[in-house]
Amino acid sequence: MPNKRIALVTGANQGVGLQVAKELVANGVTVMVGSRNFARGEAAAKEIGPGALALQLDVTDRVSIAAAAERIGKEFGYLDLLVNTRLSPIPERAACPCRSTRK
Ligand SMILES: NC(=O)c1ccc[n+]([C@@H]2O[C@H](COP(=O)([O-])OP(=O)(O)OC[C@H]3O[C@@H](n4cnc5c(N)ncnc54)[C@H](OP(=O)(O)O)[C@@H]3O)[C@@H](O)[C@H]2O)c1
Repeated sequence: MPNKRIALVTGANQGVGLQVAKELVANGVTVMVGSRNFARGEAAAKEIGPGALALQLDVTDRVSIAAAAERIGKEFGYLDLLVNTRLSPIPERAACPCRSTRK
């Protein structure tokens, strides 16, 4: 029997992340529901149902990232899919080339 597919969705206690987590669980994927506030993550995991597990994760906090990685390593030993709904803001300079190509 193949291993269960494991996904981590960041910012999954609401919005896009929550919807993605719901879809993945509905498709048989076990989803780690990444949330800065663990209680909010637990509430979201409960709403999603079996197959969703709350995980404290702030993508800007190295300690939080390391703890999340350690937990995933211990509980599953692997991750099939990472859905990162939280990206750092793109610096203004980085966005400029896109605009300049439209001229
Ligand atoms: N919704 C749209 O139609 C749409 C369209 C295009 C692009 N986007 C982009 O998609 C992303 C998500 O949008 P959304 O509408 O789902 O936003 P949202 O409803 O505001 O949800 C954002 C989620 O990210 C979490 N979060 C914030 N900072 C975090 C951090 N440092 N580490 C981990 N999680 C963090 C929030 O958790 P907390 O509860 O802890 O704050 C929340 O769960 C955004 O970057 C947005 O710009 C959205």
